[in-house]
Amino acid sequence: MFETPQPTSQPESPQAELPGKQATPLKRRCVSVCQYRSCERSGSAAVLAAFREANLPGVLISASDCMGQCASGPTVRVTPDNVWYCRVKPEDVGAIATQHLQHDEPVERLLHPRFHPRFDFAD
Ligand code: FES
Repeated sequence: MFETPQPTSQPESPQAELPGKQATPLKRRCVSVCQYRSCERSGSAAVLAAFREANLPGVLISASDCMGQCASGPTVRVTPDNVWYCRVKPEDVGAIATQHLQHDEPVERLLHPRFHPRFDFAD
């Protein structure tokens, strides 16, 4: 008879907790980071490296070809959420990891306005 291998202890999450927020179980997601020309010139290799170093359980980190948003790179897309981020810097990766991937709240300041338009009628 075969015994089903039991998972060993869960690795500790490298993500910080948000004050007053309970972490939700991580969903299976893919984070695509464009590595094509314009994004590469804007530092997308460092963004990709930062995501890989974050060691996010259940999240596939993928280098992608051009996603058609060259003027606002580095471009990052999270699926299946279909959330697009623009002008992402390596120092933004922690916020995306903690706020979006761990707490299901996309990082508003980095959302690509073409896909996530904001309407401010306050004035
Ligand atoms: S080069 Fe990155 S979206 Fe086109």
